[in-house]
Amino acid sequence: MQGVTVIDHPLVQHKLSLMRNKDTSTAQFRRLLREISTLLCYEVTRDLPLETIQIETPVERTEAVRLAGKKLVLAPILRAGVGLMDGMLDLIPAARVAHIGLYRDPETLVAVEYYFKAPDDIAERLVIVVDPMLATANTAVAALERLKERGVTDLRFVCLVASPEGIERLRAYHPDVPIWTAAIDRGLNEHGYIAPGLGDAGDRLFGTR
Ligand code: URA
Repeated sequence: MQGVTVIDHPLVQHKLSLMRNKDTSTAQFRRLLREISTLLCYEVTRDLPLETIQIETPVERTEAVRLAGKKLVLAPILRAGVGLMDGMLDLIPAARVAHIGLYRDPETLVAVEYYFKAPDDIAERLVIVVDPMLATANTAVAALERLKERGVTDLRFVCLVASPEGIERLRAYHPDVPIWTAAIDRGLNEHGYIAPGLGDAGDRLFGTR
């Protein structure tokens, strides 16, 4: 599928199966999400540009490489997106974080914004939008719109589980934004949940249900 990368790494797939299991406890779910988000982060940053620098090792002066450009921004969509931050920041500790507060109206499934806080110069940075579930894609589409309104042009989207409908919708509204996901499930059920999915990621992460 154009613009979509499925992260089929065995460790990711194994951990995702554990997360799908309804008997997995809140503590286990949280730990697995942290672990899996590190692996997702590794994949979504695989092609980041490098620049050459001069360094001195204890032995001699040499050329080395480092990440080029400004520190990237991780943009979790509240609240479940926050669950991927610790694992991603383990890998990129200097990343900036932009919080985007959007929730799905349970009746209409439409995205409603209630919070937005980002670095002032976000338009000059790569922004990786993070949400564990790409279901209807209403919130993802809205989050990307908010970021584009603020001038961001370099965007990526990463999730754990996507629905075919969500991918189609996100690609239709934002064809310039590549998607990374660990799985593409069968589809949405009548409540807007991904099936088979893993349930409500926020509730399972925070133990609210
Ligand atoms: N949000 C979730 O947390 N789970 C779904 O299945 C769909 C949206």
